[in-house]
Amino acid sequence: MDATFPALLIRDQVQGSERVDFIRMDEADLMPGDVEVAVHYSSLNYKDALGITGSGRVLRRSPIVGGIDAAGEVIASSDTRFKPGDPVLVTGAGLGEYHHGGFAGRIRVPADWVVPLPAGMDCRQAMILGTAGLTTALILKRFQENQQLPEMGPILVTGASGGVGALTISLLAAQGYEVVGLTGKPEMAPWLRSLGASEVLDRHGLSMGFRPLETARWGGAVDVLGGEVLGWLARTVDDWGNIVVVGLAGGADLRTTVMPFILRGVSLLGVTSANCPLPMRGPLWERLGSDWAIPHLDSILSEEATLSQLPEFSRRMLAGRTWGRILVNLRADT
Ligand SMILES: NC(=O)c1ccc[n+]([C@@H]2O[C@H](COP(=O)([O-])OP(=O)(O)OC[C@H]3O[C@@H](n4cnc5c(N)ncnc54)[C@H](OP(=O)(O)O)[C@@H]3O)[C@@H](O)[C@H]2O)c1
Repeated sequence: MDATFPALLIRDQVQGSERVDFIRMDEADLMPGDVEVAVHYSSLNYKDALGITGSGRVLRRSPIVGGIDAAGEVIASSDTRFKPGDPVLVTGAGLGEYHHGGFAGRIRVPADWVVPLPAGMDCRQAMILGTAGLTTALILKRFQENQQLPEMGPILVTGASGGVGALTISLLAAQGYEVVGLTGKPEMAPWLRSLGASEVLDRHGLSMGFRPLETARWGGAVDVLGGEVLGWLARTVDDWGNIVVVGLAGGADLRTTVMPFILRGVSLLGVTSANCPLPMRGPLWERLGSDWAIPHLDSILSEEATLSQLPEFSRRMLAGRTWGRILVNLRADT
């Protein structure tokens, strides 16, 4: 039997050109850890695309096996919490950044990073969610903790057609919020409505104004873009509304004044899924498997990729030409 497995190795980061090799590894190549997992599925996230293409300095060692997500079956564990055959998942924490990641047939990781799959959720569903799904759960948690009530008005979700955007629209709508999607792909409006958006706005037709405060339109917002769109959200969220700041797909800048904060009581809330405290992860995944289950998961899955397709998918993702979630099937690369 072949004891080797396939892996996508990122050699180093060179601005704008990927240095990726498709190799075969064996157990001896894995990094130290308590739990070894046969990876069935991973997923492609924006951070993975930055690492694969060398477009952003997100990797903290090289060479490194990419992939910040993994789900599969425990092969061996020196930690009594896990035994061979257990279905588990790992997201972020260092996976694919400084510890060999999920774009490989196997991972070996610290036991504290490992989350048992919630009852009724399989590896495929877990990776349609992946880091984007955990982020969506963190967004809802932040909203609830900071008293973002559905009656405060519609929540605007930017990057609506992307992974975090689509999952967030679906979860917030299922939890009783009115949700409006902002997208650069107006042709996706019928799909976004089917996920629960009451309205879909075209990002290219947006008139953002320039005053420190514009007419209040949103009860709250979830932003994956940053840059001028985030500045506009700060000017247009209503009294005591919350803006969850998630990403920088449109830019890392934020220009605002203090007016939204001192005259409307607006709050900016951060989320970081990679650094989500380890004890918080299991309970959040349990909720994603039960009362926070995200409807429409199958329609949010856009494509299934093999390892060798990931450079091409990554370039498309950074150009804003993908939608929904991209699953990576490790069983297709044996
Ligand atoms: N803080 C955290 O814990 C966390 C977790 C996950 C992701 N993130 C960050 O959140 C962002 C989105 O992640 P994702 O997984 O949802 O990525 P994604 O699936 O690629 O979605 C991003 C979406 O943003 C829009 N977009 C892309 N490029 C753009 C550009 N140049 N200008 C304006 N809009 C653009 C597109 O949606 P439309 O065409 O519909 O506008 C795109 O589908 C990334 O910055 C990622 O690093 C952060």
